[in-house]
Formats: sequence, structure tokens, C-alpha cells
Amino acid sequence: MIRRITPADCDAIATLEARLFATALDQARLMGLQSNPVFCGFVDLVPDQDQPQSISAGDLAPYLNGYLLATMIDGEAEILSIGVTPDRQRQGVGKLLLQHFFEHGTSQNMARVVLEVAEDNVPALGLYRDFGFVEFGRRKDYYKQGNRKIDAIMMKWCPTEAFP
Ligand SMILES: CC(C)(COP(=O)(O)OP(=O)(O)OC[C@H]1O[C@@H](n2cnc3c(N)ncnc32)[C@H](O)[C@@H]1OP(=O)(O)O)[C@@H](O)C(=O)NCCC(=O)NCCS
Repeated sequence: MIRRITPADCDAIATLEARLFATALDQARLMGLQSNPVFCGFVDLVPDQDQPQSISAGDLAPYLNGYLLATMIDGEAEILSIGVTPDRQRQGVGKLLLQHFFEHGTSQNMARVVLEVAEDNVPALGLYRDFGFVEFGRRKDYYKQGNRKIDAIMMKWCPTEAFP
């Protein structure tokens, strides 16, 4: 079940972000983002567990399959983050979240979506390409993993622009 993010979800999302990303959005930044009028975000929940439950600090919330965070301004959206609970990846959750985001975007006359993704993030690149995103630029050495530096690929979805 997918629904909009509420303030009560921010703890659970922050914990999952920290598990998935070296530079994660923390609870305070998520709360600030969530209250911004341009914010657009969704969670996918385990059926019959649609309410946040109290959990120990650092534990992943069992009710949360995944989340998508974006902003939307005048028909242009930016996907800031998408994450799926590790033991539920590759089961269609990411696809469902993006489908829901695009359905919502259609109702908002969304014409363009941009995002950044690490060049070695094969699952995310596959997901975005499936939805018609194409590369339009690179940020060299944008991400750091230990001593490694990794380019960010900038991708866009923009059906009305001439390819690419
Ligand atoms: C990227 C992520 C959100 C994908 O979500 P998911 O629920 O695992 O993906 P889905 O099961 O919906 O798969 C959708 C498509 O993504 C691609 N994909 C997903 N996992 C993949 C993998 N391990 N290897 C290759 N392609 C993969 C495939 O194209 C897949 O379509 P298919 O199953 O028909 O082949 C998830 O792997 C994740 O949370 N990763 C860690 C956080 C992250 O990197 N987020 C993206 C930041 S830019």
C-alpha cells in the first residue's frame, strides 16, 4: 500500500536512509523537507501495517517497504532519494513507488523529472532506464566510498524534449 509521507514516518525513513546511503538525510532534515510545500514523497507499506510503530533506535521499521522523496515545482520534479528495505529489494517495490510518483505527477502536469545516481549503482540505473530516464550529464568524482570517488550520472525524464 502506497500513501503520502507523514511526519510520523520520518524516523523510520531516516533509519532506512542511514542503512542504504553513506550520506543520508537525517530525521531533522526529513522533517524540514516534509513540511516544505514543494515536497512530494511516498512510502510503500506492508499490508495491514499502515501505521508507524515504535521501534528501538537504529532498527529498521517492519512496516516500511520503501520510500521515495522528491520535490515538484511548476511541472518540474527532482527525485531526491528512493530506497527499499534491503531484504525486500528486487521484489517490485521500487517500480511501484516510481509508478505511483508518475501517476501523481500526471495529475500535477509534471513535464520533466531529474535525478542523480552513482555510476556504479546498477539496480538504480536499471530502474530509472526502465522508466525512460536518459543521461544528460555527469558530475565527476561526486560520490566518495572510502578512498574511491564515483561520478554522478545526471538523468532526466522529459518526453516533450528532443532526444536526448
Ligand atoms: C534501487 C532500488 C530503489 C530499486 O528498488 P527495488 O524494489 O529493488 O527494484 P524493483 O524490484 O522494483 O526492480 C525494478 C527494476 O530495477 C532494476 N533492478 C532492480 N534491482 C536490480 C539489480 N539488483 N540488478 C539489476 N537491475 C536491478 C531492474 O531493471 C528491475 O526491473 P526487472 O525486475 O523487471 O528486471 C533498490 O535497489 C534500493 O533501495 N537500493 C539502495 C538505495 C539506492 O541505491 N537508491 C537509489 C539512489 S539513486
